[in-house]
Amino acid sequence: MKTKTKTKAVRGDVKDLALARDGSLRIEWAAREMPVLRQIRERFAREKPLKGVRLAACLHVTTETANLVLALRDGGAEVTLCASNPLSTQDDTAAALVADHGIPTYAIKGEDTETYYRHINAVLDAKPRITLDDGADLVSTLLTNRKEMLNGVTGGCEETTTGVIRLRSMAKEGRLRYPIIAVNDADTKHFFDNRYGTGQSTLDGITRATNVLWAGKRVVICGYGWCGRGVASRARGMGSHVVVTEVDPIRALEAAMDGHEVMPIAEAARTGDIFITLTGGLNAIGKGAFEVMKDGAIVANSGHFNVEIDIASLEAMAETKRTVRQYVEEYALEDGRKVYLLGEGRLINLAAAEGHPSAVMDMSFANQALSVEYLVHEGKNLEPQVYPVPKEIDQEVGRLKLRAMGIQIDKLSEEQKKYLSGWEMGT
Ligand code: ADE
Repeated sequence: MKTKTKTKAVRGDVKDLALARDGSLRIEWAAREMPVLRQIRERFAREKPLKGVRLAACLHVTTETANLVLALRDGGAEVTLCASNPLSTQDDTAAALVADHGIPTYAIKGEDTETYYRHINAVLDAKPRITLDDGADLVSTLLTNRKEMLNGVTGGCEETTTGVIRLRSMAKEGRLRYPIIAVNDADTKHFFDNRYGTGQSTLDGITRATNVLWAGKRVVICGYGWCGRGVASRARGMGSHVVVTEVDPIRALEAAMDGHEVMPIAEAARTGDIFITLTGGLNAIGKGAFEVMKDGAIVANSGHFNVEIDIASLEAMAETKRTVRQYVEEYALEDGRKVYLLGEGRLINLAAAEGHPSAVMDMSFANQALSVEYLVHEGKNLEPQVYPVPKEIDQEVGRLKLRAMGIQIDKLSEEQKKYLSGWEMGT
């Protein structure tokens, strides 16, 4: 679609351009909590390190992403944006990007699968040199259905754990065709975004969808990676009794020593009030669990894809299904029990809430912006593999965030440095 704006026609497909004013105000609000990205944006505006570089971004279309896109644009890039999940788009933000900022944006909250991929293809039509992904749907579309666009691509960035896992498996099979920076794996990304971001925003999404009281509830967390750890700690902070299910013995041990109950899902399913999947895997909650759940159990996913809850089994088991609140689907089972599925099993923090708070996305997206700049210089020297964010970028993001928070830290003395680099001194 061609969308008319005051200045020029900007391509895009958004729900309603009349939402642009609200979107712009919220983008501005998010910027207040993104001081690291702001500094990068100011430098980019002066130095134009991305001049003329075409970027295709497949990210959750939120106010935080808008601030990243504007930083990249101010750096001289030509950015085209689409959604990385059918249910995570903030329609006002998408409208503001098109109407007020001239960024071609293809994203509508609730879009069907066909539209979702049409939007990804629209972004690829812009002939990107660098890709930005959150979940690797852009790269996988490029490698499977749009191979003709591969020639001009020199690098990409990946935002999330699931995407990095997919890309590593592409690289292992020799299918990856250009270098990717695993932004997720930067310490200043996953220690904070995955843990504190997912921790807070998952509870926020479930609360907004249900208005449930967390105090006194038995909350079953499936998966104790960085995201699971974050949700478990925040649920405990709200007074919930946390139960963790895991397949990895060391993570299970960690959950136990963090003070949570650990047990198989078959057992946890009998007593849980609220279930949250964050495994990155398939069917963490399946038919067996639904068969024994208590009447009124609430089930939500906060992992990247909507495959962690076996919705097909729940559908098959249900006699009737109805929407009882926005984002709450009631499944009435044969024996009279009711199970409530939130947000169609899609990531609840973005479906029913606004995703991670801006202050944490500040660091994730600072890593993205600096990794894009790095790829512009170094992409041609890299192999088609998955690379870590360079340590200097990670450390710089940490330093800038600390400074923005007004926190000072100590420096090692020469004597301390010498001790740490030697082996001679013992007892
Ligand atoms: N992923 C999780 N939260 C997000 C947000 N607020 N913006 C973009 N991507 C996100």
